[in-house]
Amino acid sequence: MDPDATKALREEFAATLGGGSPSPWRTAFAAVPRHVFVPEFYGQDVRGEWYRVTQADDAYLETVYSDTALMTRLDAHGVPTSSSSEPGLMLTMLDALDAEPGATVFELGTGTGYNAALLAHRLGAENVTSVDVDPDLVALADRRLRESGTAPFVTTADGALGYPPRAPYTRFIATAALRSVPRALMEQAADDAVIVAPIGFGVIRAAVTAPGHAEGRFLATPALFMPVRLPPGSGPDLAAVRERPPESTSLPVTDVLGGRWTFPLSLALPGYNAVAWRADDGGASGVSGMCLWTEDGSTVLAHADGHVRQAGPRRLWDTVEEVASLFPGGRPAREDFGITVTPTAQRFWYGTPQGASWPLPTE
Ligand SMILES: C[S@@+](CC[C@H](N)C(=O)[O-])C[C@H]1O[C@@H](n2cnc3c(N)ncnc32)[C@H](O)[C@@H]1O
Repeated sequence: MDPDATKALREEFAATLGGGSPSPWRTAFAAVPRHVFVPEFYGQDVRGEWYRVTQADDAYLETVYSDTALMTRLDAHGVPTSSSSEPGLMLTMLDALDAEPGATVFELGTGTGYNAALLAHRLGAENVTSVDVDPDLVALADRRLRESGTAPFVTTADGALGYPPRAPYTRFIATAALRSVPRALMEQAADDAVIVAPIGFGVIRAAVTAPGHAEGRFLATPALFMPVRLPPGSGPDLAAVRERPPESTSLPVTDVLGGRWTFPLSLALPGYNAVAWRADDGGASGVSGMCLWTEDGSTVLAHADGHVRQAGPRRLWDTVEEVASLFPGGRPAREDFGITVTPTAQRFWYGTPQGASWPLPTE
C-alpha cells in the first residue's frame, strides 16, 4: 500500500488524537504510516472468537487510522501477546516522556515497531533502542522500520534487563505493564532520566533524582497494557481455602468487583486475578461470591453474605479491606498516587510520598 495514498487519512488521524491538544508528537503521527507496521490484525466477534483483518478488508484502513489498540499476535490459547497500543494513549505517554530531539530512549516492548518509528522520527533513529522478548516480532519490526525509511536499534532481549551496550539512556518508555521499575533500568539511567511505564492499571512518570532513586506520579489516564511476560504462577488454592474458618467482613463483596478500588488494588496486589459467580441466593447485583488470588497461591473466597476465607502466604482480603477503608468513596484519582524508587525498595503512595503507602515487588 502506497504511504502517500494514506497521507490525508494520517494527517486527520494525527490532528484529532487525544482531543487535538498541542503536542510535539503530532508531526510524527502524521508522518509515520501505521499501516506499514500493522498490515493485519485480529478483531474479536461477539462470541470472543478472533478473526483476521487484512489490507483487503474494507474496514482495514479506517480502523488502522483510528484511536484503537490492534491485537497483532495471539498465543496458542488465543491470548494476545502483542498489540499496537491505542494511539491516543501512546501520544499521552510520549508527551509525558518530555523528550527533545537528541534524547537517548530505551523502549521496552518493540511489538510492531510503530512506537519505535514515532520515537525515531522526532528524536533521531540513532537515539532509539527498542527491545522485545519475541524474536519473530523483532525481525518483523526491524524489516518494517526499514521499509518505512528509518532504522532505530531493535533487538531481542528481556527489557527488564535494559540494554547495557547502549546505556546510559535519558528516557525510558515501557509498553508492557511492569510490576515495578526494573533495577537494571535504574542502573542504565542518566542523571536526569525520566521513566514512563505502565504499572498496575496506570502509567507512572518518574524522574530520576539521584543514582538509583526516582520519584513521580501516575498519569490521569487509565491504561490496561499487556503484562511483561512472566513465568506462569500458581492458580487459586481452592482446596486450602475451603478448609479455612470463615471470617466476617463488612465490605460488600459486590463493590470489590464493581471496579471501585480496581486501580489501587492493581498496585497493592500486583497481577491479581478475580472471578465472580452467581447463585440463587445472590444479592441485588446477582453476584453471590468471588475468588481472588495472586500467583504465589494466596487465595481468598468471599461470599456476599459477608464471610471470607483466606489461605496462602498472604492475607489478600486484609489488603482489600485496607485499601477500601482508605478510599471509602471508591475510585480515587490515579494522579493522586505516586511512586518512590530507591536502590533497595520501591513503594507506591497516595497523596504525598509520606502518605499511605504499599511496597511494590522488586525482582
Ligand atoms: C503492547 S505491545 C508493544 C507495542 C509496541 N510498542 C508497538 O508500538 O507496537 C507489548 C510488547 O511487550 C513485549 N514484552 C513483554 N514482556 C517483555 C519483556 N520482558 N521485555 C521486552 N518486551 C516484552 C511483548 O512481546 C509485546 O510485543
